[in-house]
Amino acid sequence: MLVAATPASPPSEHECYREKATQASRLQGCYHSTRPMIRPSTIHDVPRIAEVINSHAELGKMLFKSYAELYENLRDFAVYELDGQIVGCCALAIIWADLAEVRSLAVDDNVRGRGIGSQLVQWCIAEARRLQIRKLMSLTYEQRFFAKLGFEVVDKDSLPLKVWTDCVKCPKNENCDEIAMVLVLSDVPDIKATAAPPTPRGVSIPVLEWSEE
Ligand SMILES: CC(C)(COP(=O)(O)OP(=O)(O)OC[C@H]1O[C@@H](n2cnc3c(N)ncnc32)[C@H](O)[C@@H]1OP(=O)(O)O)[C@@H](O)C(=O)NCCC(=O)NCCS
Repeated sequence: MLVAATPASPPSEHECYREKATQASRLQGCYHSTRPMIRPSTIHDVPRIAEVINSHAELGKMLFKSYAELYENLRDFAVYELDGQIVGCCALAIIWADLAEVRSLAVDDNVRGRGIGSQLVQWCIAEARRLQIRKLMSLTYEQRFFAKLGFEVVDKDSLPLKVWTDCVKCPKNENCDEIAMVLVLSDVPDIKATAAPPTPRGVSIPVLEWSEE
């Protein structure tokens, strides 16, 4: 049976990123593009992603990431490639039907202030749009940077409990001094999903009761 092909529409912002990533993967190992680009990460990127993130983690600006954590969450990640080298990364983690978190945003100190961090956040925004997730959040010390991108400060307690699962790994844990910021994508329809319960004060992670029965 013949199935009529639908007319091609112009590629979306996200499809452009994907196409570049596919080309990069195809060429992995024998060629590096000199054109700056943002692309979804591949398994080859993990050592360099860890290096960029952990250089900032050593200064207390973000959480350390192990190779194990990066492999596990690799599909959330995008990298910024400049002259064939990864100089920045970020991840978009889905928290709930209407909420995704910008995580592990890091730019190599040698190329800071060139708009790379902003472009990585724009990648997260495009990805949230593709997924039809209306709200993005970030827990950050970089309030001015995120404010320039349209994020607004919110009360931490307004975020769902699930956001805090990473806090057990943080040395600051209960004394978290990060700022919670949110960006609402008004062009993405509000989804009628069960709301995530708000964070009860003093509780950082959900604990399931264990029974022998
Ligand atoms: C925060 C970070 C990602 C910014 O990346 P970057 O590539 O230097 O940022 P950009 O060049 O896109 O900056 C965009 C704008 O924000 C401003 N900006 C960047 N960092 C800033 C800061 N710390 N304080 C105030 N403004 C800042 C820039 O001056 C620029 O302003 P302009 O548009 O008026 O020129 C980078 O500095 C970094 O990796 N920091 C350490 C890790 C970290 O804190 N990550 C955030 C975890 S949530």
